[in-house]
Amino acid sequence: MEILLMSLAIILGCTVFYLFHQQRNLHRPPCISGWIPWIGAGFRFGKAPLEFIEQARIKHGPVFTVFALGKRLTFVTEEEGFDVFFKSKEINFEHAVEDHIYRTVSVPKSIFLTSHGLLYGVMKNKMKISNLCQFSEKLVEGLHEQLESLGTDGSKDLYNLVRHALYPVTVNTIFGKGLYPTTQENIQEFLKHFQIYDDGFQNGGQIPECFLRNWSKSKMWLLNLLEKSIPDLEKNETLDDLTVMQLIANTLRPRAKQDKVPNYAVLMLWASLSNATPVAYWTIVYVLYNPSVYENIMEGISSVFGEAGKKKIEISENDLKKVPLIKRCVLETIRLVAPGMITRKVIEPVKILNYTVPSGDMLMMSPFWIHRNPKYFPEPELFKPERWEKANLEKNAFLDGFVAFGGGKYPCPGRWFALLEIEICVALVFYKYQFNLLDPFPKQNFNQLLGVQRPSTPCRVEYKCRK
Ligand code: HEM
Repeated sequence: MEILLMSLAIILGCTVFYLFHQQRNLHRPPCISGWIPWIGAGFRFGKAPLEFIEQARIKHGPVFTVFALGKRLTFVTEEEGFDVFFKSKEINFEHAVEDHIYRTVSVPKSIFLTSHGLLYGVMKNKMKISNLCQFSEKLVEGLHEQLESLGTDGSKDLYNLVRHALYPVTVNTIFGKGLYPTTQENIQEFLKHFQIYDDGFQNGGQIPECFLRNWSKSKMWLLNLLEKSIPDLEKNETLDDLTVMQLIANTLRPRAKQDKVPNYAVLMLWASLSNATPVAYWTIVYVLYNPSVYENIMEGISSVFGEAGKKKIEISENDLKKVPLIKRCVLETIRLVAPGMITRKVIEPVKILNYTVPSGDMLMMSPFWIHRNPKYFPEPELFKPERWEKANLEKNAFLDGFVAFGGGKYPCPGRWFALLEIEICVALVFYKYQFNLLDPFPKQNFNQLLGVQRPSTPCRVEYKCRK
């Protein structure tokens, strides 16, 4: 009899627990998991993450959770969730990236959490719109120099051509001269290590380093390079015009976090090269493969700078405003190759649509997919720079639904600088060279979560300096 009663009590207890749990879960977004504990949907998600998200959205609706590698990733895919994502007090940026920052540049969480707000403010201020004139001359001068070193004609993969032009110019502007190598051998070594580091940046934040030996070696190589270079980079001080790098070092120094300056410098190096360069590349590709857009750009360039050719023209922000098609092409390109994901962490349970997302969840938003939603961008797959005619670009406003630079309290602090350098690069490349395309439109193997999409096949071109 006693055993019977006890069994009944256990069954009743389990039923109550089950019902209670069901009740709570009813308010949680639908969850996609797998049968292997901890791994969950990790394999399926990892294989083709962006495709996986789109399939999940079609099947489960605008808010859903993916359980993978012990983490709950909750995706918001429609505008009802955007305000919560960017503005809610229950959602936090720093806690979402602290692990990743620790693994990719070895900055301990406590240091990252206490320094982030200050460093962000310094970077935002240095690269704000009203400061851009400090950069344009350096960028134009540097790009002329780099492009001249390509010779009057040749053939090259366009991605390499753009990297050859933009890497040194960006590094010299953000860090000051002395960091970017100058001999062919050292440049090749830098390119090799940066590429390995960049390719592995998204995995480097998730998978233990012992499984990523090459990536780990390249990270150490970059850290060593910065450790060696920083004392000289700091000496170049002219008080009224500190580089972004010097400002970062000055912000960390009084807080006794000086030994972490090289680590932050590696992060800055990655942030400044990793997105802007592929965007400049894709913009040139999209324009070259759209002859009518190309013709209009060339007309605009000749009307402002004179007939395209070899002259060492100067380009100011004002000049660029007179060829607005360039900026429209850059923004349309960014829309199409936007970062796969931006993240926040839920620190208090938060309501999104009819669901309650529990604290501890990572909240994920995909600019890439938002930009492919016809509600925001009709015919979203097409390259249509003219759609940006509706945006008030004079007032630096983007189109509704454009979230490639993130948003809320910490949008990309380098966005205005990035747009300026990409526009200058595109204008100069088209001013100076005629291209003959040797390959079909490069394949777009869209799989990049952290950062903009990269090409997966070459785009070789023959280039010839205009007379
Ligand atoms: C077209 C090129 C670029 C794109 C699409 C891009 C996009 C982004 C995005 C989406 C974020 C995260 C924002 C969020 O989570 O809300 C970010 C952060 C950041 N970006 Fe950019 N970015 C670009 C170029 C640059 C450049 C050229 C620099 C520096 C010169 C830069 C520096 C940074 C930094 C330092 C952060 C981290 C900010 C923080 O700690 O809060 N970015 N960027």
